Amino acid sequence: MADETDIESILHEKRQFAPPEDFAEHARVDAKKLKSLHELAATDNAGFWGQMARDEIEWHTAFTQILDESEAPNYRWFTDGKLNVSYNCLDVHLTERGERIAIRFEGEEGDTRKITYRELHALVCRFANALKAQGVETGDRVVIYMPMIPEAVIAMQACARIGAIHSVVFGGFSASSLRDRIEDAGAKLVVTADGGRRAGKIVELKAAADLALDGSCPSVETVIVCRRTGQAVNMKPGRDIWWDEVVEAAPEDCQPAWIEAEHPLFLLYTSGSTGRPKGVQHSSAGYLLNAKLTCRWVFDLRSSDVFWCTADVGWVTGHTYVAYGPLAAGATILIYEGAPTWPDGGRFWKNCQRHNVTVFYTAPTAIRALMKLGDELPAQYDLTKLRLLGTVGEPINPEAWMWYRRVIGGERCPIVDTWWQTETGAIMISPMPGATPTKPGSCTRALPGIDADIVDASGEPITKSGAGGYLVIKRPWPSMLRTIWRDNERYLETYWEKFGNRYYVAGDSAHRDRDGYFWIMGRVDDVLNVAGHRLGTMEVESALVAHEQVAEAAVVGQPHDIKGEAILAFVVLKGARPNGSDAEALAGQLREWVAEQIGAIAKPDEIRFADNLPKTRSGKIMRRLLRDIGRGEEITEDTSTLENEGILDQLRKKVPKVPGT
Ligand code: PRX
Repeated sequence: MADETDIESILHEKRQFAPPEDFAEHARVDAKKLKSLHELAATDNAGFWGQMARDEIEWHTAFTQILDESEAPNYRWFTDGKLNVSYNCLDVHLTERGERIAIRFEGEEGDTRKITYRELHALVCRFANALKAQGVETGDRVVIYMPMIPEAVIAMQACARIGAIHSVVFGGFSASSLRDRIEDAGAKLVVTADGGRRAGKIVELKAAADLALDGSCPSVETVIVCRRTGQAVNMKPGRDIWWDEVVEAAPEDCQPAWIEAEHPLFLLYTSGSTGRPKGVQHSSAGYLLNAKLTCRWVFDLRSSDVFWCTADVGWVTGHTYVAYGPLAAGATILIYEGAPTWPDGGRFWKNCQRHNVTVFYTAPTAIRALMKLGDELPAQYDLTKLRLLGTVGEPINPEAWMWYRRVIGGERCPIVDTWWQTETGAIMISPMPGATPTKPGSCTRALPGIDADIVDASGEPITKSGAGGYLVIKRPWPSMLRTIWRDNERYLETYWEKFGNRYYVAGDSAHRDRDGYFWIMGRVDDVLNVAGHRLGTMEVESALVAHEQVAEAAVVGQPHDIKGEAILAFVVLKGARPNGSDAEALAGQLREWVAEQIGAIAKPDEIRFADNLPKTRSGKIMRRLLRDIGRGEEITEDTSTLENEGILDQLRKKVPKVPGT
């Protein structure tokens, strides 16, 4: 980090865009409102959140204490209040908005569905009753391993309704990743589907779930299987039951469980720099509050909007901006099952036209990939209903931002570049579209009530503009993670100890410009950001080392035009270092092996073989050196400690890719 704190920003972005006047005129938050929100939060931060919580949430029992700091940094919010999250997303709309569409769905093959709030309420109640009939009780963990279909959201909402804690596992993760997550959570029930559709293929979810459960995961008593593809799957008697059969028997009325504000709503596993994925634990009330508020503030959502957040429910974005926030805000959401480029790169734009999408939220990686395909594809569709565009997941390069604004937004839509994390639960730093002038590549300023800052290695605020440092949050906020499931030590260590429990440490580096705008520079640790998803180098390395021929592996990220970062793995074999076609074949096998172990997203883009890895005297792998080698940059590190300088040539040597892998 020392190097990064010394870095002056090299990106001198001068363009600036004021909020479009007609947008600002009707925005929920205009410049005046934004100022008053900031002032309110600055005068009495806890009081500000207390007021928001009273205004935005329907409580069953009102809270009397806003923030409990007695066990800081395990903060607790609104502790003696009781509520139900699903009630706040569904029941609250039934009188005034019951017949409005809650979910519009588009399958990859073009099949569509529309579900009103009233229908969604009934579907959620029935599934909640089905879960209860299977013995699921408040506090039990339910793992959801589903394609992007309405039933994924129904299952999440049904858990919320009865106070069960869900843990959604991304459908692209492999059986062994699923198994680890089920075991760590101690799940009682798994909800999955026969399969899902993606890029013209079937994702074999049930088969993967069987593989995960076979001979392990003793906590799992029941598997509920939703029919999506209709393909034949193996149903284990006594354990597996069909979704349609369990809901058929279930009543349409399910009283919500009135749970405590701090009751965990969900766990979501995310990558850290070391060890196994961490089960990030979120609360009910605090999480709901920021999810709903940011939908109103940042996406300016109202019930007339069709909001399409393209994230899968397997990631936090799909929790906050698909399954919870926009429903709490009473909007219509679009759920799309398939790939952005199926059957061609116009699919996103076609979906926007077909479903009258007004607010669109996606990742820079998708924008870059679609930008490469040219302006003709989007030009074929009517995108004039769009009024606001958003991005999330990684820094967006100004060129992609400008393309997004011009080609997709018709130079009419404001763009919100939103910075947040699995751990923060909701957007933290972002423009307010009707109030904040935007600059391509900057997520601008922290939202009201969020106290973000940049500090140096000793924890002192950096005041010099352009100087990089650690991004920290100086006060607790309602949707912050509460702990790491069953590992509070790791929570303290990962997010708090670096600066003596004073600040939440996000793990990102950032700098601020003269206007006080934040520019995110990337992760400070060894976490990769591939296509907007965090992957620990450690997980990929462990998968490689689990292969019988591999002795040691080190993984680094390399800049990639579309994915943001590509994965480069350096591998030392137990036997001799392979050459020529042997190396090619083995590299291909290892890439597939990692895909099987973790999922296709973690498949290394490149593998290189060496006799050993460069290490420091204390035995730490010299990752910066490996990164520089990967980038073909000149080596500036001290290499005198290397036992064999000759390995540098080995590490530089590319193995040609086997075609088709
Ligand atoms: O490095 C930051 C990057 O994504 C990380 C969080 O990843 P994850 O927990 O998977 O959540 C992704 C979706 C919320 C952050 O630590 N990141 C996220 N949004 C941005 C970003 N980097 C730059 N700009 C953003 N807008």
